[in-house]
Amino acid sequence: MSEEFKPRILVFCCNWCAYAGADLAGVSRFQISPHFRVIRTLCSARVDPEWILHAFRKGADGVMVLGCHPGDCHYIGGNYRTRRRMALVRMLLTQFGLNKDRFQLEWVSAAEGEKFARVVNNFVERIKELGPSPYGKLERRERKAV
Ligand code: FES
Repeated sequence: MSEEFKPRILVFCCNWCAYAGADLAGVSRFQISPHFRVIRTLCSARVDPEWILHAFRKGADGVMVLGCHPGDCHYIGGNYRTRRRMALVRMLLTQFGLNKDRFQLEWVSAAEGEKFARVVNNFVERIKELGPSPYGKLERRERKAV
């Protein structure tokens, strides 16, 4: 009997918009998949691409970065830098043999609880369709062997 695939997804949220949007989604009691964990950063620009690669190396099936809408970053141009950096991350993922759809950058404001729920749920569904990440399979096998 095969177990149902429960994806492991990491969602980096900037403190000022996306995290507040996540909070609003919770307060508003929107239905959100349980297959993700949030890491709060002060700005989306704080998310080092190395953290994303590390998450995949450690078995994440998908990673999202959520920040303020362009023009709304509390550190003026942080999310413009994020947008440029994350375009490179997508290219890097394919170099490492990962489907670039396992990563998503999205803008979510503090007033967009519904959008937070929608983008996370859609992402979880996409990852379920893609199946476990090849690195995740390796990591799970190594953990079982210990
Ligand atoms: Fe939200 Fe910079 S503070 S993206």
